Amino acid sequence: MKTFFHVEDIGDLNAALKEAEEVKKNRFAWKHLGQDKTIMLVFFNNSLRTRLSSQKAALNLGMHPIVLNIGAESWKLETEMGVVMDGDKSEHIKEAIPVMASYCDIIGVRSFAHLEDREFDYAETILEQFVKYSGKPVISLESATVHPCQAFADLITINEYKRNKRPKVVLSWAPHPKALPQAVPNSFAEWMSAADVDFVITHPKGYELDPKFTRGSRIEYDQMKAFEGADFIYAKNWSNPGVTNPEDYGKVVCKDMDWTVGARQMAVTNNAFFMHCLPVRRNMIVTDEVIDAPTSLVIPEAANREISAQVVMKRMLESLDK
Ligand code: CP
Repeated sequence: MKTFFHVEDIGDLNAALKEAEEVKKNRFAWKHLGQDKTIMLVFFNNSLRTRLSSQKAALNLGMHPIVLNIGAESWKLETEMGVVMDGDKSEHIKEAIPVMASYCDIIGVRSFAHLEDREFDYAETILEQFVKYSGKPVISLESATVHPCQAFADLITINEYKRNKRPKVVLSWAPHPKALPQAVPNSFAEWMSAADVDFVITHPKGYELDPKFTRGSRIEYDQMKAFEGADFIYAKNWSNPGVTNPEDYGKVVCKDMDWTVGARQMAVTNNAFFMHCLPVRRNMIVTDEVIDAPTSLVIPEAANREISAQVVMKRMLESLDK
C-alpha cells in the first residue's frame, strides 16, 4: 500500500475488517515488521486522538514514531509554489519534505483544509506534494478533504456493534460556532457508500457534500425522517462545501440549533448508537443526555483509531521494498 487516502486504498472491506479483528485480538503479533523502521508523523494542525493512536499503532508494530509539529517545533513552511518568501515562512515544503523523508520509511500528514480556495483544498495540494517529493508511502491523518483513519475506525466500530446484518446508518449535520472542514463527513460518506449498510445523509439545504464522496447516497433534508428506524447516528458539523454555491465554500451559513442531536431525534430511531469522531462541542452537536447515554460509542470509536492506524501501517510495512 503506497497511499492511504480513499476507501479503495484498503481494498476488500470484509478482508480489512477481518484483519482489524485479528490486530485487535493480538496487537503485538507483528512487532517484527517494524523493526528498524521509522514513521514520521507531521502535524500542521492540532490533534489528540490521531497523534496518540498513530504513535501507539507504530509502537505496537515495533516501529519508531517521530512526531513533528510544523510551526511550533519546526520552521514555518511555505506551501505555495513560485512565491517570493519574504513573509514569516522560513522554509519551503519542496526542501522540507525530501529532508523529512530521508529520515523515515513511512510518512503520515495532518494538514486541514484552509477553507479559502476550494480548488486548492479539493486538489489535496499539500498531501499530493508529500507524495510527489517524499517517494515514501503516505497516510492522510486528516488532510484537506479526507480523514480515512477515522472512517476506517468508524466502520470497525459499526461492525462490532451492529445488531442486524445491514444496519441503517445516518450521517447528520449538526451546528457548530466555527467553520469546520468537510474531511470527516466526506470520508464517512465514501466508506459507508462502499460498506454493506443502509446509508442516509441528512443536512440543511445547501450543505450538500461533494458527489465524489457521497457516490449516489440517499439525502434526506428532514432530519426527523432520516432518523426513523436508524441503528447508528453519526453526528458531525461541516462548513459549506460550496457544491451548490461555490461562493459559500467554507462558510457557516446555518447555525440552526434544531439540528443538535438530542432525545427528540433519538426517540424515533431503533434505539440507535450515537457516534462522533471527537472532539465534540457538547450541547451544540449533541446534548449531554445523548452523549452520556449507554448507547454512546464515542469512546470505543476513538479506541478503534489505534486499530485502523495499525492495519494501515501493517499493510504499508508489508509492501515496503515490493
Ligand atoms: N478524531 C480526530 O481525528 O481527533 P483529533 O483531531 O484529536 O486527532
